This record gives sequence, structure tokens and C-alpha cells, in this order.
Amino acid sequence: MERTFIMVKPDGVQRGLIGEIVSRFERKGFKLVAGKLMIIERGQAERHYAEHAEKPFFGELVDFITSGPVFAMVWEGDDVISLSRLMIGKTKVADALPGTIRGDYAAHTNFNLVHGSDAPESAEREIANMFSDSELLGYTRTIEPWI
Ligand code: PPS
Repeated sequence: MERTFIMVKPDGVQRGLIGEIVSRFERKGFKLVAGKLMIIERGQAERHYAEHAEKPFFGELVDFITSGPVFAMVWEGDDVISLSRLMIGKTKVADALPGTIRGDYAAHTNFNLVHGSDAPESAEREIANMFSDSELLGYTRTIEPWI
């Protein structure tokens, strides 16, 4: 079973969209295995966005993601990485289709509300950067056979 790291960014927390975003993942049928409201430390943010270290907006991105609480989560399910990216929508808000989280709620690329891992390797790295093993809960859902 695949796992992904999903994070409601500071803009999503400030706008009161944690519930809406969690609800979309729950209704889809994915299983929540970890979740917490947290302030990301600068080093943690730099590790999270390490692949973008050379981009001109890197400093701005780190400033933004550490500027206030985020809601960090780990979700589990078949193909959860690619399906989450579809549900979140394109990075550039002008390309984010209605029906996606960004398409429905984001008006500017710098405030695109939510992050989702883009590949199994990054999911593993991002989860380990934000959560300890003991925070990831293994449990059985009785509805499992119906999803
Ligand atoms: S790129 O350039 O295509 O590799 O960038 P991309 O993978 O689309 O985005 C990487 C993360 O940077 C955010 N982003 C930006 N932040 C600030 N300013 C600008 N111009 C900008 N462009 C992209 C984007 O939302 C990605 O963050 P996450 O958290 O992964 O969504």
C-alpha cells in the first residue's frame, strides 16, 4: 500500500480550509495514518524543498512555509501519490482545473494551499522529515473491503 505526504500550507490553515481538504481525502477513501498542526523549522523546510534549492523563489518558498502553522498528514491507499496530485490540481493556479482543490480555492500560485508528494522516493523522504515512526499509525478500517 502506497503512502504520501500531504500538507495544508500556511495560507490554507489561515483560510480555515483544513477541514475541507481533509474531507476530500476522506471521501475519496484514502486512509489517514498521521496528522498534526505544526510550525516547520527552517532546516526542515530547506530539506523538504531541497530539490528547488537553485530556483530563484527558494528563499521565498522557505519563508512562506515557515511563516505559520501547517497541517501535515500522511495518507495511504492504492496509487495515493498520483491520485492526490490529481485531486490537488496543477501548481500554477491558472492551469488548476475546477473540481481540484487549487482550482476551487486558490487564486495565486504563491498561495496554492496544499502540497502533495510527486513520487514514491519524495514521499518517503518528506514523511521521514516531518514524522517519527511512532506517529504513523497502523490500524484496520472495517470499511476496507468496500474501497
Ligand atoms: S518547478 O519550477 O516547476 O520545478 O516548480 P514546481 O515543482 O512547479 O514547484 C515547486 C514548489 O514551489 C512552489 N512554487 C513557487 N513558490 C513561490 N514562487 C513561485 N514563483 C513558485 N513557483 C512554484 C510550488 O507551489 C511548489 O511547492 P509545493 O509545496 O510542492 O506545491
